[in-house]
Amino acid sequence: MDRAPFRPSFGNRPDRLVGRDSEAAGSLKGLDGPVGHPGRATICLGRRGMGKTALLLEFAELARRRGFVAAKASASPALLAELLEGLARDGARWLPKGRKLTGGSAGALGFSVGLEFDAQEAGPATFRGRLTDISQALDKAGQGLVLLVDEVTANSPQVAELGAAYQELVGEGRNVAIAMAGLPGAVSAVLNDKVLTFLNRAAKFQLSEVPVADVMVHYSQTLKSLGKTIAEADLARAAEATRGYPYLLQLVGYYLLEYVGEDPAVGGAAVDLAIATARKALGDSVFKPALHPLSALDRRFLEAMACDQGPSRMAVLAGRLGVSAASAQQTRARLIAAGVIAAAGRGQVAPALPYLAERLRGEL
Ligand SMILES: Nc1ncnc2c1ncn2[C@@H]1O[C@H](COP(=O)(O)OP(=O)(O)O)[C@@H](O)[C@H]1O
Ligand SMILES: [Mg+2]
Repeated sequence: MDRAPFRPSFGNRPDRLVGRDSEAAGSLKGLDGPVGHPGRATICLGRRGMGKTALLLEFAELARRRGFVAAKASASPALLAELLEGLARDGARWLPKGRKLTGGSAGALGFSVGLEFDAQEAGPATFRGRLTDISQALDKAGQGLVLLVDEVTANSPQVAELGAAYQELVGEGRNVAIAMAGLPGAVSAVLNDKVLTFLNRAAKFQLSEVPVADVMVHYSQTLKSLGKTIAEADLARAAEATRGYPYLLQLVGYYLLEYVGEDPAVGGAAVDLAIATARKALGDSVFKPALHPLSALDRRFLEAMACDQGPSRMAVLAGRLGVSAASAQQTRARLIAAGVIAAAGRGQVAPALPYLAERLRGEL
């Protein structure tokens, strides 16, 4: 086997993107449409482990196959430099032979490797200037460019600058597209109006669980390709345990193969062990990073939800916490933005990470 079929980690491209056909196709609509198509700016929102980064990587690949040059970076102070660097690297294949990488040129934007898209000796020093140069050079080669921005937040000055530059390129009729991804609250913050206008104008879509039936098909095909058999009921149990959560799909699949070892038949005991181990693994990889940034009040709110078997009523929660309805609403909004809870019908909320309810009840 050249590559493990299941790799439970974050930010990698899975062997197969399960259950995301319509999202992948949807992201291409803008690219296939004319320059300036509104679908060319998208933002994908979803909880941790829902597969946002995987979808961005898939989109980059699909865009490249359509002849676009693509670069991906996460919102951070290095965002703009990383995007330019990525474009230079990916764009190299479209430039006439003979143009070479100018290694080690530390430009104004902190380039480590800079490709001279322009014959001019010194290119413009601003991000917008560099981006215009790149897009002009690509235009000449008949190519467009796609910018991918992961972990977007509304309070990022770099995202603001990127948004402004992107809109100017669109105004000039350049062949550009931008796809972003972030937590559910990425566009609901009110810290930076300029970013918010840009993010709000982008076509938003929510990434939710993938169909369990698709997970089942994927498990079945993967096991078959490895020459392994599994009883239908065990297969269904493994798939259901993932609750359609992509990260858990990888975790359960990974431990399934680990526990079954060389055995050609996947038994019920291996399935049980794999599910239990995968659930435990959520503690460090999902719950800790998701719960760590929360305030004491946010945590108390979650604890107050613990004794409910199903969704919790807001009024009841405010009572349990001894806080006003308005204060409870504020906490609710913060936890939804962080992707930890979700609205569950009128005046109700529920935990939004898989097995978080069990974890809060101390069952995990
Ligand atoms: N549709 C999918 N099918 C199979 N695996 C997926 C899918 N989406 C994501 N994954 C895998 O799940 C894990 C978490 O995905 P990731 O994109 O990092 O989540 P996010 O960025 O939303 O936190 C990664 O190992 C990734 O390869
Ligand atoms: Mg991610």
